[in-house]
Amino acid sequence: MKVTIIGTGYVGLVTGACLADVGHEVLCIDLDQGKVDRLNRGEIPIHEPGLERVVQRNQADGRLSFSISPSEGTAFGEVLIIAVGTPPEEDGSADLSHVLAAAREIGRHLERYTVIVDKSTVPVGTGDLVEQAIAEELAQRRSTVEFSVVSNPEFLKEGAAVEDFQKPDRIILGTGERRAEQVMRELYAPFQRNHDRVLVMSRRSAELTKYAANAMLATRISFMNELANLAETLGGDIEEVRKGIGSDSRIGYSFLYAGTGYGGSCFPKDVKAILHSARTAGLPLRLLDAVEAVNEGQKLVLVRKALKHFGGTLRGKRFALWGLAFKPDTDDMREAPSRTILEALWAEGATVQAYDPLAMNECRRIYGNRRDLVLTASPMEAVVGVDALFIATEAKPYRAPNFSDMLATMNSPVIFDGRNLYEPAALQKLGFAYFGVGR
Ligand SMILES: NC(=O)c1ccc[n+]([C@@H]2O[C@H](COP(=O)([O-])OP(=O)(O)OC[C@H]3O[C@@H](n4cnc5c(N)ncnc54)[C@H](O)[C@@H]3O)[C@@H](O)[C@H]2O)c1
Repeated sequence: MKVTIIGTGYVGLVTGACLADVGHEVLCIDLDQGKVDRLNRGEIPIHEPGLERVVQRNQADGRLSFSISPSEGTAFGEVLIIAVGTPPEEDGSADLSHVLAAAREIGRHLERYTVIVDKSTVPVGTGDLVEQAIAEELAQRRSTVEFSVVSNPEFLKEGAAVEDFQKPDRIILGTGERRAEQVMRELYAPFQRNHDRVLVMSRRSAELTKYAANAMLATRISFMNELANLAETLGGDIEEVRKGIGSDSRIGYSFLYAGTGYGGSCFPKDVKAILHSARTAGLPLRLLDAVEAVNEGQKLVLVRKALKHFGGTLRGKRFALWGLAFKPDTDDMREAPSRTILEALWAEGATVQAYDPLAMNECRRIYGNRRDLVLTASPMEAVVGVDALFIATEAKPYRAPNFSDMLATMNSPVIFDGRNLYEPAALQKLGFAYFGVGR
C-alpha cells in the first residue's frame, strides 16, 4: 500500500520506517526543512534503538522517502497518518493546532477516497474536528471527494519504539465504517501473522483508550511514590514492598517503581489533557487530580533531601548528575526529571557536572553554554570533585560503577539516587551517605 505519514518525529518516523520495512511504500512529510534534509542525507534526527538500520535499509530500497510538501503527501497515500505533536497548552488542554493544520492541508489537496488516520494523542471528539476541517476545505473547492477519519492511537515506548511497533500488544482502530476498517486491516496485516491484534471500537472510545492507558500507568507511579514517602516515615523499604506486591499476578511488576515522579513527552501532558477534558465536561477526576499533585510534589524529592543533608543551602556546591534524558535508551529530554533537578540546583546556586549516554547534544540545545553546567565525557568524569551525585535515570553505565574510584574522586561521598539502583546497606558500608527514595 502507499502510505503518507504527516509529522516525522518519534512516532511518525518509527511508524513510517516500520511500515516500509514490511513492504508498504511510505512518504514521510514534515514542516521542518532541516529535519527532512537530514533524513534525505541518511541522518536520523532522534535516537531510537534499531531505527537507523530500518530507515537506511528502506531508504536504500526506495520504499521510504521524505518531503516537506503537503500536496505531494496528500496525493501519495491511500492512507494518510497524522502523527504531529499535541503539546500542552497553558491550561493543560492538548494543543490541536498542528493536527487541525494537517487536516486542513489534506482538505486542500484531497482528490480521491482516502483514509485519514489520527495517530497523535488527541482528546475525545478530535476525530469529529478533523473530519469537519477537511470537509470545510473540500466545500471551499466544491469537491465531493469522500474520506474516512479513523482513530489509531499509538502505544509505543520511546527506547523500545521499533520493537513495540513491530510487535504491538494491540492495534486499536476507532471507526464505525467498514470500508475504512478494511483498509486499516490491510495496512496492519503484516504485523498480525501470529494472531489478530486488532480491536475495533468507536472513534471516541479509541481516543479515550489512549488517555486511559497513560493515566493508569501514571497512577501506578504516583501510588508507589506516595507509598515510598510513607515507607520513609514509618521505616519500611519501598523496594521490598515493590517486590512483595509486584509478585501478585493481579498487580505485576511494571510501572511500580518509586522515584522522582513521571516525566517524558507523554504522561505529564496526557494526564493534564484528560483532566482538562473532564473538567470542561463538568466531571472532575478526583483520582487523577491526586495522581498529578503527587507527581508535582515528587519531582523535587532529591533536591529536598540534599537541602536537608547540607543544612538548608546548596550555594557554591558542585554536584554530579547522571541521566539527562527522561529515561534510558532515548535522547528525549521533554519534561525529564533531570530538568527539574538541574533547574532547582542552579536556582540554589550550585554547579552541575552532567552525563548522559545519549542526550548530551539535546542538553546543549536546550540549555546552551552556561557557567553552572559542565557536560562530561563519562559518568566517572562527572563525579570528579563533587559534593554529591544525583541519579535521574537507570541507564546501564550507572548500574555497577566502580565505587572505590568514586570514593577516591568525589569531594564528599554522598549519593541521592532517584532510581534506587543500589543497596543502601552496601553503599553505607563502603562509606557513602546514600539516599534513595522510600528506603
Ligand atoms: N513520543 C512518544 O513516545 C509517543 C508515544 C505515543 C503517542 N505519542 C503521540 O504522538 C504524537 C507525536 O508525538 P512525537 O513524540 O512523535 O512528536 P514530535 O514532536 O517528535 O514530532 C512531531 C513532528 O510533527 C511535525 N509537524 C508539526 N506540524 C506539522 C504539519 N502540519 N505537517 C507536517 N509535520 C508537522 C513537527 O515538525 C515534528 O517533527 C503526539 O500526539 C504524542 O502524544 C507519542
